[in-house]
Amino acid sequence: MISKKIVDTINAQINEELFSSYLYLSMAAYFENMSLTGFANWMRIQAQEEQFHAMKFFDYLIERGGEVELLAIEKPENKWDSILIAFEETLKHEEHITERINNLVSIAFDEKDYAAQNFLQWYVDEQVEEEAAASQILEQLRFLGENKHGLLMLDREFRTRVFTPPVTA
Ligand code: FEO
Repeated sequence: MISKKIVDTINAQINEELFSSYLYLSMAAYFENMSLTGFANWMRIQAQEEQFHAMKFFDYLIERGGEVELLAIEKPENKWDSILIAFEETLKHEEHITERINNLVSIAFDEKDYAAQNFLQWYVDEQVEEEAAASQILEQLRFLGENKHGLLMLDREFRTRVFTPPVTA
C-alpha cells in the first residue's frame, strides 16, 4: 500500500515536471522569436522529455493504486536577457528538480517503501544526465561569448535533436 505522504509528494512532482515542460516550451517560443530555430528545437524536445517524466509518475501512481491529483500549473517567464541567461535558468531549474527528487527518495526511505525507492532510482540517474546536458551547453555558451558565428553553428547542431523516449526500467 502506497502512503498518502508519497502520493501527495508524487502529485506535487507531477506538477513540477509539467511546469518544467511549460518553462521549456516558453523558452522554445523565446528562441523562435529570435529566429534561433535550433535552440528552439532543443527546448521543444526538452519540453517533451518533461511530459514523459510527468507521465511516468502519473502511471506509477495508478499502478500503485494512488490517486492522481493534477494541480494548477504556474505561469512561466517568457523573456530572458540572453541565450546564456536562459540556459543559466535551465541549469538552476534542473538543480531544483534534483533536490525535489532527492526529497522524494528520503520520504520513500522514511516510509520504508522499497518499491518507490527502486522506482525513484530512474529519476536520480535521469537528473544526473539532465544537469550534465544543461551544464555542458552553458559552458559552450560561456566559451563562445559574443561569437555570433559560433552561436549559429551551435544553433545548427541543435536542430538535429530528436525526442527519443528514455529507456525505462
Ligand atoms: Fe524532469 Fe528536467 O527534469
